Amino acid sequence: MRLSNKVVIVTGAAGGIGAAQCRLFAKEKAQLVIADINEEQGLNLANEISAEGGSALFIKLDVSSESDWSSLLETTLSRFKKIDVLVNNAGIYRTESIQEETADNWDRVLAVNLKGAFLGTKAVISSMRSHKQGSIINVASTTALVGSWRGGSYGASKAGLLSLTKHSSIQNAQYGIRVNTVVPGPIETEMISKNIADPEGRALSESRIPLGRLGSPNEVGYAILYLASDESRYVTGIELLVDGGLTAQ
Ligand SMILES: NC(=O)c1ccc[n+]([C@@H]2O[C@H](COP(=O)([O-])OP(=O)(O)OC[C@H]3O[C@@H](n4cnc5c(N)ncnc54)[C@H](O)[C@@H]3O)[C@@H](O)[C@H]2O)c1
Repeated sequence: MRLSNKVVIVTGAAGGIGAAQCRLFAKEKAQLVIADINEEQGLNLANEISAEGGSALFIKLDVSSESDWSSLLETTLSRFKKIDVLVNNAGIYRTESIQEETADNWDRVLAVNLKGAFLGTKAVISSMRSHKQGSIINVASTTALVGSWRGGSYGASKAGLLSLTKHSSIQNAQYGIRVNTVVPGPIETEMISKNIADPEGRALSESRIPLGRLGSPNEVGYAILYLASDESRYVTGIELLVDGGLTAQ
């Protein structure tokens, strides 16, 4: 099993790509911490995984809150004694152009998508350093790499994650900790459901992708699984694109 005996924290784990990862990781025998602001959905997922013989603990977390991270750390370490993997997956999306975006919404997007990953990294790093190993995976987006006629705060927050990954990877390599980014293109989840609700919007999105379709949550989950497992033990500081060729054009 690819994640046997590994304690894995996934943020934003209750839905979409996070939930898909958790189901994959459970099959690979991870000991999961399902962290999300959505308590009902998070508890349901933890119960589902436990009922199928997996190991899953739900902890309510707003990634933008430093005190929530302290509680999560305390609960995780008292239960599992170590942390092997952190996936900074939680994210929120906004489509407003820079001209239309409000300062408050800009702050919230940056707080969840970028500060959340910073706080998560800071929270787990001491424990990982003391065990001389760990893998942190930040979930960015192709909007970090290319401009678009919609959005702005979201792409800027995801571009910040690329830099956070590079700095964290350099600063922690000597402690045996790897830090990488997964960069998904459009993936069929709740997050982009409005963009693809009408057949025209969907066809437009798909027409831009060389592989001709949107990605699935599992297709991102498998990339994260690789970076979480020891199979990627010589891989740090990278951006692993899972975008159907979108940014190769
Ligand atoms: N769906 C896409 O097309 C796409 C593309 C590129 C990148 N991504 C990124 O993948 C990640 C997962 O996205 P998704 O598509 O599964 O989205 P989603 O909206 O389906 O799920 C996001 C999850 O994050 C949780 N969340 C939101 N704010 C939170 C907070 N403050 N603290 C803790 N949890 C919080 C939500 O409750 C939800 O469970 C995000 O970082 C997103 O930006 C998604």
